[in-house]
Amino acid sequence: MTVAVIDRPVLVVAGARPNFMKVVPILHELERRGVPRLFVHTGQHYDVKMSEALLADLGAPTPDVMLDVGSGTHAVQTARVMERFEPVLMEHRPSWVVVVGDVNSTLACALVAAKLREELGCRIAHVEAGLRSHDWAMPEEVNRVLADQLSDLLLLPVEEARGNLQREGLASVPTVFVGNVMIDALFSVLEAGRKLQAPAKHGVEPGRFVLATLHRPSNVDDPQQLAFLLEALAAVAETTPVVFPIHPRTTARARSANLEDLLAKLIVTEPFGYMEMSAMLCEAAATVTDSGGVQQEATVLGIPCLTMRDRTEWIDTVQTGTNRLASWPPTVESVKRETREAISRGRVSIGAKAPAGWDGKSAARIVDAMLNAVGGRQGAR
Ligand code: UD1
Repeated sequence: MTVAVIDRPVLVVAGARPNFMKVVPILHELERRGVPRLFVHTGQHYDVKMSEALLADLGAPTPDVMLDVGSGTHAVQTARVMERFEPVLMEHRPSWVVVVGDVNSTLACALVAAKLREELGCRIAHVEAGLRSHDWAMPEEVNRVLADQLSDLLLLPVEEARGNLQREGLASVPTVFVGNVMIDALFSVLEAGRKLQAPAKHGVEPGRFVLATLHRPSNVDDPQQLAFLLEALAAVAETTPVVFPIHPRTTARARSANLEDLLAKLIVTEPFGYMEMSAMLCEAAATVTDSGGVQQEATVLGIPCLTMRDRTEWIDTVQTGTNRLASWPPTVESVKRETREAISRGRVSIGAKAPAGWDGKSAARIVDAMLNAVGGRQGAR
């Protein structure tokens, strides 16, 4: 095996909440191996609860570069990241640009790096490559398909993702199965999280509450859909308390649709830090969510999950038996019934049924893949 010596830094990009838990294990692993690294935070998420608190929980290094792009339409946000990322790339001339997941910052930075690949001799690694919802209405689907097309090294969280890349003409791009790096982050906080006694802080008893999250534009941007989903959660709350750490997008939409009455029936909190979220999930009777991350974490923890979408990129979570997709379109009755079913399924110990590579060792495989990589896109040095 040839191990390329990396004398220029590996530049790791994070922009939004679901990126942070994926980059921190990679940053730690680079550090441990003495590989020079540069941590760039685009500032797509900027609220303390959406960014700093999560990074602190994960023991993240302070970002070396902050782009402070903030919110905006998709075009504005993506363009702003591109504009501010280009000079950073020119200045630091990294050996690798690592982008993770599928948020606007992922695509923006991959696109800038692809245009400078020849000039700077840098390569792009996409962590979480090959996942697809096959739903082009989701901004994330656009971001992930294009990020894969731009990358030199495709790092798969699940083996099934390989077929999607082959179908999209990417069979010749180096592709390595590395497993799920978010599980590295989850394992790193579990022990400290248990000591928080998080349920008591929110007035609920361990094993006797539902943890709910909703933030997908398709669920929260349409006032009628949001009203209906909150009504369904309120119906669940008649028998089991529902803790609802609310995303800023959902807060804004609920406010403008005058849905405070429905929110009042739930235990609404600010977004949790990563440790508190994991601690609450560990103790929940079930979770109702539209987040990809929560589906994965619930699977590893064996917590029954009801996913409020008509499909999932994370098929393994359904195959493992912890996750079920809600009947779609849902009704207040169906959400209530399916949440009850989830609660009565109870916690399972998934043990050997855990998806391969969801073992807390993914960051090491990611760094190995970069150090051992040869080739990439035609013309890459
Ligand atoms: C983004 C990602 C989504 C991810 C989600 C997790 C894209 C296309 N979407 O969606 O894949 O699942 O993050 O949270 O990249 N806001 C704040 N404070 C913040 C961040 C956002 O108040 O720190 C508000 C702003 O009003 C903003 C809205 O939330 O307009 C939405 O934020 P944005 O980053 O545009 O998308 P998300 O819905 O968070």
